[in-house]
Amino acid sequence: MNVTFRQLKVFEAVARHLSFTRAAQELHLTQPAVSMQIKQFEEATGLPMFEQVGKKIFLTQAGKEMLHYSRNIRSELNEAEEVLEQLKGGQRGHLDIAVPTTANYFATRLLAAFARKFPDVTFSLDVTNRASLLLQLEQNEKDMVIMGLPPTEMNLETHMFMENPLVVIASPNHPLANQKRLELSDLANESFVVRERTSGTRIAMQRFFSERGIEFKTSIEMTGNEVIKQSVQAEIGLGIVSVHTLELELETGRLVILDVKQFPILRHWYLVHRHAKRLSPVAEAFREFVMENADKFITRPEL
Ligand code: PGA
Repeated sequence: MNVTFRQLKVFEAVARHLSFTRAAQELHLTQPAVSMQIKQFEEATGLPMFEQVGKKIFLTQAGKEMLHYSRNIRSELNEAEEVLEQLKGGQRGHLDIAVPTTANYFATRLLAAFARKFPDVTFSLDVTNRASLLLQLEQNEKDMVIMGLPPTEMNLETHMFMENPLVVIASPNHPLANQKRLELSDLANESFVVRERTSGTRIAMQRFFSERGIEFKTSIEMTGNEVIKQSVQAEIGLGIVSVHTLELELETGRLVILDVKQFPILRHWYLVHRHAKRLSPVAEAFREFVMENADKFITRPEL
């Protein structure tokens, strides 16, 4: 059946008013234009939609059936229009992001706050290591990635949204735990439990020490923040982690932050995607939300 949306609209108006004149007024058309649309509509459907008895027009049985369907079609179309508008405005859609394990401590809070504002948006959150984040960026797989150290060799768009200070942590029983204003040289003889080689935290820490000509003992290497914190609690050595990973341990007193001059190592968190990427409206809305609100939803201990 080769009918147009325009014919459906005109048919529906005539059927509602049971008058060509009033339908024409409503649609800002001339009456002959309305009659022409109805004639074409009847030709396309193969049946008359109206019958005239005296001065009145009535819907035929075919017209009554058609009215039912044309109302459904128009209401579906309106709904489709509304959904597309919401997609355009970022109110609806899917957000696919990836974050390093270090950002997991706050990313879920950010997503929860975003979800309260945009209840029709669905999410995927991949919490993974830096190597996998780099691969996902390379292959342009995610809407957006959160990183502490965006790679320089890829053409990326980066938006800095929050500080990411790195601190030295120790067991509360450690001899340096209660000392004030420690020098970097006081750490020189300590063992450090360090993150895996590819971790942003590890790279930043190594850069920091090597820029200051300091070598420290990195006898123990472990993958992920949790195991570093556990090892430091077990007094295997000192650790260097993002302050965002420490909320629980500081609250319960299981770990302390050492008061070392020149610390914290100041870093930042970035929202990252490939430069040429066309962000979806939801991804745009998320970026805007994070840039404006990150500090409101993410708390960290004062340093
Ligand atoms: P990571 O965290 O140490 O878990 O890779 C990211 C970063 O701080 O750059």
